[in-house]
Amino acid sequence: MSKKLWGGRFEKGTDKVVEDFHSSIRFDQRLYKQDIRGSIAHARMLGRQGIIAASEAEQIIEGLEKIMADIEAGRVEFDVAAEDIHMNIEKILTERIGDVGKKLHTGRSRNDQVALDVRLYLRDEITETGRLLRELITVLLERAEEHVDTIMPGYTHLQKAQPITLAHHLLAYVQMFGRDCSRLVDCAKRFNISPLGSGALAGTTFPLDRMAVAQELGFDGITENSLDGVSDRDFAIEFCGAASLIMMHLSRFCEEIILWSSQEFSFIELDDAYSTGSSMMPQKKNPDVAELIRGKTGRVYGDLMALLTVMKSLPLAYNKDMQEDKENLFDAVDTVKGCLAVFTPMIRTMRVRGERMKAGAKGGFTNATDVADYLAKKGVSFREAHEIVGKMVLMCVQKSVALEDLSFEDFRACSEAFEEDVFDAIRVERCVADRKVPGGPAPDAVKAAIQAARERLS
Ligand code: ARG
Repeated sequence: MSKKLWGGRFEKGTDKVVEDFHSSIRFDQRLYKQDIRGSIAHARMLGRQGIIAASEAEQIIEGLEKIMADIEAGRVEFDVAAEDIHMNIEKILTERIGDVGKKLHTGRSRNDQVALDVRLYLRDEITETGRLLRELITVLLERAEEHVDTIMPGYTHLQKAQPITLAHHLLAYVQMFGRDCSRLVDCAKRFNISPLGSGALAGTTFPLDRMAVAQELGFDGITENSLDGVSDRDFAIEFCGAASLIMMHLSRFCEEIILWSSQEFSFIELDDAYSTGSSMMPQKKNPDVAELIRGKTGRVYGDLMALLTVMKSLPLAYNKDMQEDKENLFDAVDTVKGCLAVFTPMIRTMRVRGERMKAGAKGGFTNATDVADYLAKKGVSFREAHEIVGKMVLMCVQKSVALEDLSFEDFRACSEAFEEDVFDAIRVERCVADRKVPGGPAPDAVKAAIQAARERLS
């Protein structure tokens, strides 16, 4: 049994089973960079404040920089017995530079150290996730620009409702992913403050310059209460909440991709590079990527629920339960990034079958509202017009024809308000073009929306 950094008050070593059980080095080694950055800033401040000698601070910093380089080069092996990344690095440091290494932890606890590391980690990952989201939005805007005139059916209840365009449909997702971006930014804004100096729970007797450390590490300020500084994991939960919404949006889009690429819809064809085949059925081309993203949505929701449940009812301040925050947080980060990285090129390369979309927009009485609107514009009340057109649809269903296939006499028989111009007014192109209201599907409104989204992006 190995000697622990905290072993002073113990008469016996840790049982081997316990050692394996409570060690987190297997997963928290991913925080090595943040841990070393934090330690360097802490050591520099200790030296500047005269808490340790300036030369000692220098030795520590130099030692930490070498450890960083060695970890990066794959030359460091971590030790399960040293528990976590924080103690592994401190242990290596002391092995290398001698007793002066033991001064690094002055005025610090692993509790504020780990709170710092996770914040630094998440800050970088939020930047990367935001970049991936903006890349997706850029591709959506490019594809929308191509398809401003590509008419397709819009649905409610997955029943054909009214004609829209593919561009308009894609722009709905631009809105969702735009909100996701702002949620990430907002979340980072709230947690970008340094907990170092909170100590184990009650701060420290050493005259630390918390603000200087925070500034060196790129924080906007410091946490205002030492208990909260070490026991707050709201930011991890907020991130998982934001990540869950990203996944929810991706899964809705994926569901449509899966439907649209079915033979029954045939609205799109995924590129071969983003589809897979069947081991038995030679004809198959499956939208596995979209399905897998839809499936992975569940794990990110699971990560969110796991974190909420870990934190539920924990008394202040730090409790070892909180070591369980990392694997779920890392999983959410990896999953959302992995999904975005494959979803974006899948959308960029998918082939759109405009003729199939337009054909789809034509069946199913998608212009029925336009017939009613036509009557309302000719002075019939909308409620009455709705009733008249409902009867016309019933008549069409019985005859198996579309509204535009009715003769002018048929129209007149239903309402005297119909004139010859009704046929032009209910063409599917007109149905789209006349919905010029801001936020609507008319090509000019969509072009304006693309322009506005581009401006927001830059
Ligand atoms: N590995 C620990 C964690 O991730 C670090 C903090 C440990 N603190 C303690 N008092 N045992 O939560």
